[in-house]
Amino acid sequence: TLPLLEPTLSGPRVVPVLVLDDPEDAVSLAKALVAGGLTTLEVTLRTPKALACAEAIAAKVPDALVGLGTLVRPEQFAQARDAGARFLVSPGLTDTLAQAAKATGLPYLPGIATVSEALIAWEHGFRELKFFPAMLNGGVPALKGMAPLIPEVRFCPTGGIKAENLRDFLALPNVFTVGGTWLTPADAVKERRWADIERLAREASALAGSPLA
Ligand code: 3PG
Repeated sequence: TLPLLEPTLSGPRVVPVLVLDDPEDAVSLAKALVAGGLTTLEVTLRTPKALACAEAIAAKVPDALVGLGTLVRPEQFAQARDAGARFLVSPGLTDTLAQAAKATGLPYLPGIATVSEALIAWEHGFRELKFFPAMLNGGVPALKGMAPLIPEVRFCPTGGIKAENLRDFLALPNVFTVGGTWLTPADAVKERRWADIERLAREASALAGSPLA
């Protein structure tokens, strides 16, 4: 069986999805998120320095569990592992990506949006999937509909999740965590408003950690 992310998680079930292009700022930002209670961080491969940013966080923020996301080419998987990623995420799935992911030996969350895609991921052996983009693809009702069809699969919905709706997702038995970019608004990162980001992380931690409605 393939390695899973969930058993390695601790703390609130919220994964900040990060777009970073400066390793020094990446470390400051990661420290702010960890101070706010969020320790599982996904650095997306959407900038030229994303790998260096993940590497810097892995080296300098020991309390963070750093993963790399937006993996869309097979060669990116070994690069992500070599940068110190502890888990890997893609917005979709192909046979080539599935093979590259398995070769790393790391937990991998492929992205799916439909039942057929979830079944394909299942056939590859993946049991933790990213449901993406979650709100555009039916949100909570869509995930409820998946549960009886593929009961062994657990989801990390991302795409349109924020403080207002994260508890609705976390209340579903087939959701093990949620993710999103709302914790790190682009202007706050650009202006290095780390205290604001820590406050957003603290708010999300409280919402995710308190008893679910
Ligand atoms: C992702 O890759 O997970 C998404 O960009 C997150 O979507 P969001 O920006 O709506 O949170």
